[in-house]
Amino acid sequence: MHAATVSPHPDSFTEVLAKLAAEMLEVDAVIARRLTSDVAMVNQIAAYIVHAGGKRMRPKLVLLFANALDFKGSDRFELAAVVEFIHTATLLHDDVVDESSLRRGKPTANAMFGNAASVLVGDFLYSRAFQMMVSCNRLRVLEVLADATNVIAEGEVLQLMNMHDPDITIADYLRVIRYKTAKLFEASARLGAVLAEASPEIEEACAGYGRALGTAFQLIDDVLDYEGDPSTLGKNVGDDLREGKTTLPLLIAMERGSAAQALLIRHAIEHGEHERLTEIVDIVRSTGALEATREAARAEALLARQCLAALPANRWRESLLEFVALSVDRNH
Ligand code: IPE
Ligand code: IPE
Ligand code: MG
Ligand code: MG
Repeated sequence: MHAATVSPHPDSFTEVLAKLAAEMLEVDAVIARRLTSDVAMVNQIAAYIVHAGGKRMRPKLVLLFANALDFKGSDRFELAAVVEFIHTATLLHDDVVDESSLRRGKPTANAMFGNAASVLVGDFLYSRAFQMMVSCNRLRVLEVLADATNVIAEGEVLQLMNMHDPDITIADYLRVIRYKTAKLFEASARLGAVLAEASPEIEEACAGYGRALGTAFQLIDDVLDYEGDPSTLGKNVGDDLREGKTTLPLLIAMERGSAAQALLIRHAIEHGEHERLTEIVDIVRSTGALEATREAARAEALLARQCLAALPANRWRESLLEFVALSVDRNH
């Protein structure tokens, strides 16, 4: 008999991708089933943003870790859908707060249906996610996701407090991105381990991977806000500066640029001056700030890869290495 037919794990990366794609169809089915409401507007707005697509990074993490640790129960599909709902709820809220007009290549929900409806449907998705978690009947799952959503909210508030402040430190910036973005990646990876009832050491390794990957992911998001292409990205570029968000590219550019360049950036952060975006992008580029931010993302990516050493060696674990590369070398 060929080894592949008896092996419990896929034999090649292609096979992993095929299995992951098949499992994501199951997740999509859960999403479609759980999205329904008796209130027409809830259905309309929730379906509008969910069906706009997205990369589905977080549900894939749940599935990859559950498989890497040999958990085969259907709760993995439910929890994968849960993390995507939580993510989508944060996007609905985030686009209102950031006054963004483009998401996933389409007008944002706030642009289409207004701020009030977006916030309220975000609340619907959050609370639907909690209904689904409860049905998994595991207190630890609730604990992980309650903590994650709480920290994400803190991250968004912290970011709001840092708005228009050019004097925040790199540590302040990192705290915001760990909270607002890395925390959900961390929770998604950790859930795979929780489902598999893995040892505390393995659970922490999974969480560490998610945290580092999520940090790298947001660092790249902040690079793409300066050099991405809106049609590939599906979001507008230059939004961070318009909002007065002091991200790492700007912090590095202020540090490395001339006094006049630093002053121009400070002024733009304080006043959200979008008009001088091209000038500022030039400074950000010429000071090597984008490359330095990518370098910081690569360092986090390396940390993520190192965490995987604690997991049993199999193709799923290998695919988690590929997943890191994909998150860092991306253009959308
Ligand atoms: C967008 O997340 C918000 C950030 C954390 C940068 P994604 O880039 O994963 O968004 P979608 O789901 O693919 O649209
Ligand atoms: C997104 O942060 C983080 C959350 C949604 C919690 P950003 O505001 O940087 O993400 P985009 O650029 O709008 O996707
Ligand atoms: Mg935003
Ligand atoms: Mg952004």
